[in-house]
Amino acid sequence: ESAARRALVAELIRDVPDFPKPGVVFKDITPLLASAQGFRAAVTELVATAPERIDVVVGMEARGFVFAAPVALELGAGFVPVRKPGKLPGEVISHSFELEYGFETLTMHRDAIRPGARVLVVDDVLATGGTVGATAALLKEMGAELVHVSVVMELGFLGGHARLAELGIDNCTALV
Ligand code: PRP
Repeated sequence: ESAARRALVAELIRDVPDFPKPGVVFKDITPLLASAQGFRAAVTELVATAPERIDVVVGMEARGFVFAAPVALELGAGFVPVRKPGKLPGEVISHSFELEYGFETLTMHRDAIRPGARVLVVDDVLATGGTVGATAALLKEMGAELVHVSVVMELGFLGGHARLAELGIDNCTALV
C-alpha cells in the first residue's frame, strides 16, 4: 500500500557525498528510476497526491521531466516543460532565482497553457524552493492556476516549504 510504496521510494534514493561540490550531499534518483517497481511506486504515489481535474502537468528540466510525463499520462492531462534558457524555440517568458548552488533562469513557452487551466507541478526534489517558486511565477504570468505541487523528495533542512509559504504556495506535498 501507500506507506510501503513510499518506503521503497526512500530506500532507492542514494546519497552521494561531496557532489557536485564538497559539502553537498547529492540525492541520486537513478537507482529509483532503474527499479521498475520503484519507479512505478513513485509515479503511483505522485498521481495519488493530485487533486481532481488537472488539465496540465508541468515538469522542470531535467529530472522533473522523468516523473512529470508519466504522471500526466496517468491523469489524462497534457505535459508542459519548464526549461533552462535557450532550449525552447518559441516565444518564452522567463524568471530568475537563486539556487542551492548558483543562479538559475527558467523559461516556458508563453502560449503553452491557457489562462485558467488547472496545473499540477511535479519535480523530483524540493530543495530551497527556488525552482518551484520560479515555476509558480511563470504560471501566474500566464494566468494558469497552480492547484498543487508534488515532489518525490523534500530536503527539509533547506527550508523550501517556508520559502514557498512566503510566496503563498501552501499546497505542496512530498512523498519522502
Ligand atoms: C534540481 C532538482 C530540482 C531543483 C531543486 O534540479 O531537479 O528541480 O534542483 O532545487 P531548488 O528547490 O533549490 O530549486 P537541477 O537544477 O540540478 O537540474 P537537473 O534536473 O537538470 O539536474
